Amino acid sequence: MVDVPPVVLDRASRTPLSAQIADALRSATADGTLRAGDRLPSTRELAAALGVSRTVTSAAFDQLLAEGWVGGRRGAGTFVLSAVTPAPGGTVLPGARDTGVPQLVDLRAGAPCLEVLDRSAWRRAWRAAGDAAPDRTPEPAGDPAFRAAVAEHLLRHRGLVVDAGLVLASTGTSAAVAEIARALPPGCRVAVENPGYQRVVGALREEGVEVVPVPVDRDGLVVDAVPADVSAVYCTPAHQYPLGRRMSAARRSALVARARAEGWWVLEDDYDGELRYDVAPLPLLVALGPDVVVHLGTASKILSPTLGVGWMVAPPAVAESVLARRLGTGVRPPRAGQRVMAAMAVSGDLARHLRRLRRELAGRRAEVCAAVEAAGRAVEGDPAGAHVFVPLEGAAEEAQVLAAAAQGGVTLDGLGRHLGAGPDEARAGLVLGFAAPDREELRRALAVVTTVLRHDDRGPASPEGDGPVTGPAARP
Ligand SMILES: Cc1ncc(COP(=O)(O)O)c(C=O)c1O
Repeated sequence: MVDVPPVVLDRASRTPLSAQIADALRSATADGTLRAGDRLPSTRELAAALGVSRTVTSAAFDQLLAEGWVGGRRGAGTFVLSAVTPAPGGTVLPGARDTGVPQLVDLRAGAPCLEVLDRSAWRRAWRAAGDAAPDRTPEPAGDPAFRAAVAEHLLRHRGLVVDAGLVLASTGTSAAVAEIARALPPGCRVAVENPGYQRVVGALREEGVEVVPVPVDRDGLVVDAVPADVSAVYCTPAHQYPLGRRMSAARRSALVARARAEGWWVLEDDYDGELRYDVAPLPLLVALGPDVVVHLGTASKILSPTLGVGWMVAPPAVAESVLARRLGTGVRPPRAGQRVMAAMAVSGDLARHLRRLRRELAGRRAEVCAAVEAAGRAVEGDPAGAHVFVPLEGAAEEAQVLAAAAQGGVTLDGLGRHLGAGPDEARAGLVLGFAAPDREELRRALAVVTTVLRHDDRGPASPEGDGPVTGPAARP
């Protein structure tokens, strides 16, 4: 449930309760307690929390909607927009003006592209998963059919030859990192890319690990900057998250060599490795150092995080420790999602889906690049995955762009959210995801992004003027 914002009601006052609630929410927006993009509780939740009827909270929301402080979309909730007046250049989403209710489109990275998922194939896989007989005994390493399907998947899509017996099911990357952390010496230090994936940082800290942020440059993790006393190093070599470049071959060799010499495990997060759509990817890190690298894969980007399915290929010492803990605690990855993914793999539906997904994402990325470049800005990152990085001048510009986009009904993600403590804090930019919305929503949102990126302190960046992007510009 969404947090209920602070609202103090004076039941003796002559001001109607609905007006008091609307006032309190407006003030919370003004003083920063609520920020642009924050989701409000539902009218039902707010009514229950404040001990008033739903008619009262609905009236308050209607008032704020009419004033333009909040916007909503059926089924998606009500969101703070923070300002009534659109920014110069008309950053309200085209189409939203008709109803007076600006729509929020989420362009943060992370979500999968469900628009191209064939619902019949999805239903078939769930039916096939349900047809399998129930298991009498749990298998802590995971469903055998799933492990075989992952071994085949790694061969076909990642060029890795691995025996199915070495594949362990997990419930996803962050959960797998937490399991591995429990196998490390108590209170140890783990190096993590900075900027990097903060859920993994959270998972490690939760297990009592000291996280050491290590800088990233154009070649990926700066291996020389990893301190000697760490127990493990977490990285995203195929597609650095969130900057989007792959780790160079020289850095890969250096990382594996230091891991061997200094006794580290390397955690290779291959979260979207199947989604390269230009050239064949570099070989996996685990192929270079199977004795020191734990390879981590996930269905969260290629299918859905709600499946709760991931996998790992680990050196025997790590795998044995993870399995022993699963046996000892009875906590093991549930099989349902594993069976769904296995059914999709066996039927060929997964391979067909990946082909469609790569095509779709390549097309979307081209539109994103055209929109960003039309605003005179650069796009960084390899042609892969489902997000790009757009550098900005500094933290102030980043905050300004996020706020202006929110006023236009678009939720953007700043690099600041991906930075841990460390030497890179001066970097700023947008981490622009393009998988989550449908294609039409994406186009409308990109028109806002172009406009917002043009309106910075230095004035319009493009000599052609300020008109919104009217359609996808083709890229060679
Ligand atoms: C860098 C990175 N790794 C892994 C994942 C997937 O994590 P999980 O499998 O825990 O859903 C994501 C999803 O957003 C991610 O961005």
